[in-house]
Amino acid sequence: MRNYTLLARAKINLYLEILGDRPDGYHELVMIMQSINLADKIELHPNGLQEFRIFCTDPQVPCDTTNLAYRAALLMQTKYPQAWENYGGVDITIHKHIPVAAGLAGGSANGAAVLVGLDLIWKLGLTQPEIETLAALLGSDVPFCVGGGTAIATGRGEKLAPIPDLEDLWVVLGKYNQLSVSTPWAYTNYRQKFAHGYIKDFQTLQYHGARIHSSSLVQAIAHKDSQKIGQYLHNDLEKIVLPEYTLVAQLKETMAKAGGLGTMMSGSGPTVFTLCASENEAQAILEKTRQTLTDSDLRLWIAPLSSQGITIVTEGK
Ligand code: C5P
Repeated sequence: MRNYTLLARAKINLYLEILGDRPDGYHELVMIMQSINLADKIELHPNGLQEFRIFCTDPQVPCDTTNLAYRAALLMQTKYPQAWENYGGVDITIHKHIPVAAGLAGGSANGAAVLVGLDLIWKLGLTQPEIETLAALLGSDVPFCVGGGTAIATGRGEKLAPIPDLEDLWVVLGKYNQLSVSTPWAYTNYRQKFAHGYIKDFQTLQYHGARIHSSSLVQAIAHKDSQKIGQYLHNDLEKIVLPEYTLVAQLKETMAKAGGLGTMMSGSGPTVFTLCASENEAQAILEKTRQTLTDSDLRLWIAPLSSQGITIVTEGK
């Protein structure tokens, strides 16, 4: 049996609109997701044991059943008992580079990587749609993390429609190391504050979901009009997170003033990103932000957009 090393890329939300409640307790969303080349490295080694073992370079990350990589392994064990019987367990080592609880889908990407890795190790021959269906059982963002690139995500976030990949653009990312935002907290507060405006009727929800395909942002992406892409960035969850976390609001303001095509919080935050036309521009914005905000807890990165989700780095005996 082979070992595999995979890259699991982070995502940002270029667009996140909350339309209404779903019967399953989640929200009906319209999102445009974008992979970036900030990635965790996931090593999978068959261990000859009847168990999965999870290791992580970041002690902040729990290696129990709250870890999506572990949950992905247990899901594969349940779904493919014959493969589990034949091949047994795997040691999964997560080399963490994506910040945790940051709105960048780091945990989701790790879960997606384990699905892809076990499919390879157990020689299941699953198709991408089959892996995405399993991924949806783990979390709303996990299906996107499998294939990555640029995509429209509707429903809970699990229904994907690819759109032309955005390449050649860069992002600056900013996050306070000690600050994390709970996704359920952000959505629950959004519901408390804005449920009166939710679309109640199922057909109207479907109609609004479908409208994203002809939206200004999708058109700007199709035409590779980076100025307009920057203008049309949107995230409803900012209305909850920014008033509560003034540091994040201040970070957004500072990064926006430093330049770039547009600045927005990603997912439920607290990471803020600025879309940039080039690596040089991204580097300049990073430096300016660092000079303005001198808090040693603030971490800043730059990364290019990516057209890929999970990829194989090495494959060995
Ligand atoms: O699907 P996932 O486990 O990533 O979702 C985390 C939390 O985010 C959910 O428990 C829910 O509170 C919220 N959520 C939501 N509607 C969605 C996606 C997530 O309310 N479409």
